[in-house]
Amino acid sequence: MKTTEIRQKFLSFFESKGHAVVPSSPLIPANDPTLLFTNAGMVQFKDVFTGKETRPYHRAVSSQRCVRAGGKHNDLENVGYTARHHTFFEMLGNFSFGDYFKHDAIAYAWELLTKVYGLPAEKLWVTVYHEDDEAHDIWLNEIKVPAERIIRIGDNKGARYASDNFWQMADTGPCGPCSEIFYDHGPGIWGGPPGSPEEDGDRYIEIWNLVFMQFERDAAGNMLPLPKPCVDTGMGLERIAAVLQHVHSNYEIDLFQALIAAAGRETGCTDLADNSLKVIADHIRACSFLVVDGVIPSNEGRGYVLRRIVRRALRHGHKLGQPKPFFHRLVGDLVAQMGDAYPELAANQARVEQVLRQEEERFSETLENGMKILEAALGGLGKGDRLDGQTLFTLYDTYGFPVDLTADICRERGVEVDHEGFEAAMARQREQARAAGKFKAAEGLSYQGVETRFEGYEHLQGQGTVTALYVDGVSVDRIEEGAQAVVVLDATPFYAESGGQVGDAGLLQAGPARFQVSDTQKIQSNVFGHHGQLSGGALAVGQAVQAQVDVQRRASTVRNHSATHLMHKALRQVLGEHVQQRGSLVDPDKTRFDFAHDAPLSAAQIRQVEQIVNDEVLQNRDVQAAYMSYDEAVGGGAVALFGEKYGDVVRVLDIGFSRELCGGTHVARTGDIGLFKVVSEGGVAAGVRRIEAVTGDNALHWVQDTQAVLQQAAALLKAQPSDLGDRIQQLQGQLKSLERDLDQAKSKLAASAGNDLAGQAVALTGEARLLVANIAGADPKALRGMADQLKAKLKSAVVLLATEAEGKISLVAGVTSDLTGKVKAGDLVGMVAGQVGGKGGGRPDMAMGGGSDSAALPGAMAQVNDWVLARLQG
Ligand code: ALA
Repeated sequence: MKTTEIRQKFLSFFESKGHAVVPSSPLIPANDPTLLFTNAGMVQFKDVFTGKETRPYHRAVSSQRCVRAGGKHNDLENVGYTARHHTFFEMLGNFSFGDYFKHDAIAYAWELLTKVYGLPAEKLWVTVYHEDDEAHDIWLNEIKVPAERIIRIGDNKGARYASDNFWQMADTGPCGPCSEIFYDHGPGIWGGPPGSPEEDGDRYIEIWNLVFMQFERDAAGNMLPLPKPCVDTGMGLERIAAVLQHVHSNYEIDLFQALIAAAGRETGCTDLADNSLKVIADHIRACSFLVVDGVIPSNEGRGYVLRRIVRRALRHGHKLGQPKPFFHRLVGDLVAQMGDAYPELAANQARVEQVLRQEEERFSETLENGMKILEAALGGLGKGDRLDGQTLFTLYDTYGFPVDLTADICRERGVEVDHEGFEAAMARQREQARAAGKFKAAEGLSYQGVETRFEGYEHLQGQGTVTALYVDGVSVDRIEEGAQAVVVLDATPFYAESGGQVGDAGLLQAGPARFQVSDTQKIQSNVFGHHGQLSGGALAVGQAVQAQVDVQRRASTVRNHSATHLMHKALRQVLGEHVQQRGSLVDPDKTRFDFAHDAPLSAAQIRQVEQIVNDEVLQNRDVQAAYMSYDEAVGGGAVALFGEKYGDVVRVLDIGFSRELCGGTHVARTGDIGLFKVVSEGGVAAGVRRIEAVTGDNALHWVQDTQAVLQQAAALLKAQPSDLGDRIQQLQGQLKSLERDLDQAKSKLAASAGNDLAGQAVALTGEARLLVANIAGADPKALRGMADQLKAKLKSAVVLLATEAEGKISLVAGVTSDLTGKVKAGDLVGMVAGQVGGKGGGRPDMAMGGGSDSAALPGAMAQVNDWVLARLQG
């Protein structure tokens, strides 16, 4: 039975049992910062289990794409070494949301395996969680599995619920006891039943996990009962395919055989059993689908996991002797295997190929050299030795070798790697960076007082009491006029830099005391430091101050911040949902926005983004801020940034058509933004673009300045701005033809100069004549042509021409062929050049040289006559 058919039969079977067929969700869990990648079929139903979300069905079935690399469930290191580990796999699963429970879950699984897939019942073993008598009795009494093939598995990992038969998605989230079904591959393979000392062998293989979801584990480790018991099952498609195709390793199933053959084709490896081909076949699946789902290779988070997998695949290609980019060429083969089941893969083929090719090209520059370094370091090491942390770090830092890639190579030689040494080297580098002063001055101030209440959403002026003062990082009670200091207040309208928005500037006043605030930074997450200088009076801890934010500066900043939200949304509409914020800086002058996208934006795309944002501005809708729970917010479609930590209660900003979690300050209505204009677009790192844009007055000034430049140019060219393009083209044409005319005139001039010079030649011996001339103002490039002409004219002659321009002397020597037996042009030019501080050389009949010592030139030229005569006579 082909893999495709096995997948289809699973979906149809459960559909016939009243399950909704739900498509696979992307590998990036929607708005779930707790999880790196979708690692099981239940991930997209997480909130349905906990009751936070309801769906129009109570039973569902899916074939879910999963990645288990780099997170809680991480199989990357094992790929290629075992028969069944993958970075990417498909999980077939059926789900009950408070509908059926253990009874039906078990009965359905048994029916599918034995009736639909036709597996012999006597080959199947099952496990249950040791306390789960209910599941045990269903297997024994209703399914009639013999008691000796039902095994209870306890808490074997040191804590309650820490068991192979207790499943949880991540450190928090839905979980419960489970019952697993094993297939016995027969006595020909070593291994024992689950729970036995030989269970790690390959004979008894887990094929299906039935999880009886009963709890939600919270961040404190509490097990809260779910509103209703649920079912979550998972069967690895590749494993069941291996069983049904009577092969022992997942890599032998039809789908993998096709990818392995393709990897062999692209690397030139003909031994299809080579482990490296398996690794490549596995990795092309993970990498392609990660790119489909919006991940781009980078140095952190999900992007770094992707980079590690790609680089590991490339290293295996290199091992097989393929130094050139090859990996991206497997995408087409993957589409042939999986494109029907996953239309999003087929639709994105070209983009996936492009992203992977770029990453291949980037790494191929350092792979070769890194391998040399590593080979040298491994040279003296043998089994059981350790590769030192500094080498690991150098390979990582300079050659882009992820640590697991180096470890993978070491493992092949039985060499361990020194992870602690690596961390130490890394820490040293960080320390150096810190010492180099990359850290903000506000960090490191020690403060024990009350937190700062931020009042700047509503007001730009207010009252606060000074709770601390710092000068040069040291806490003081009082500051005097002229002091550079940091002032902490218990309440302030000043916004402290965060979320990309710069801190406010303004004035703190207390009687005669005036503290000019130039910036506001957080000292702790809720303690604001006002940085600035006391320009009059004195200020002491405990004193009340009037705080006044610089209104203009704040207004310009919020315009740019609100425009950023609209632009983010517009970019997603124009370029696609893979556009994710990678960084932003919003200040009074502009917004600078970095986002994931792998190609430059066209002029048309930029125009479209501008149009969409300006349309939203013109609608002039109210901006709304609301506080709600994180789940409520993301459930309502708010965009959260991955990797950002959010509290339980978040602030949701609705600006026009955008909804984002944001703590920044914003305009009251979209119309306040004024004109929005993109002023630049470019790349900042692999797969990351940067846009700078301006709003309000700044946009007006930008347009005015740009127009002024145009008008000035138009006035100079005596044209209308709209005709500038034509006018410039016309001028370029004229320039070209003038240059042509000039070249012709120059060569004519040189020719006639040559004619004149010929008359200055002096007789040597017989017919032979000598011409030595320094031609003022001649083009050095024309000298050679002149020498040729003079030779032709004089018939038998030695010619030496010089010219000087900008302190440089150019020399040419020419000798007619009848004389080259005695006088070599190269020697002659060399003689002269040598005296003017330079060099020269060339053929016997034509040679060039140069120098810089103008004062020596006349003397050198005066010697030529004797030098030549001596040779002609000698
Ligand atoms: N969620 C369960 C697993 O991944 C079915 O094994």
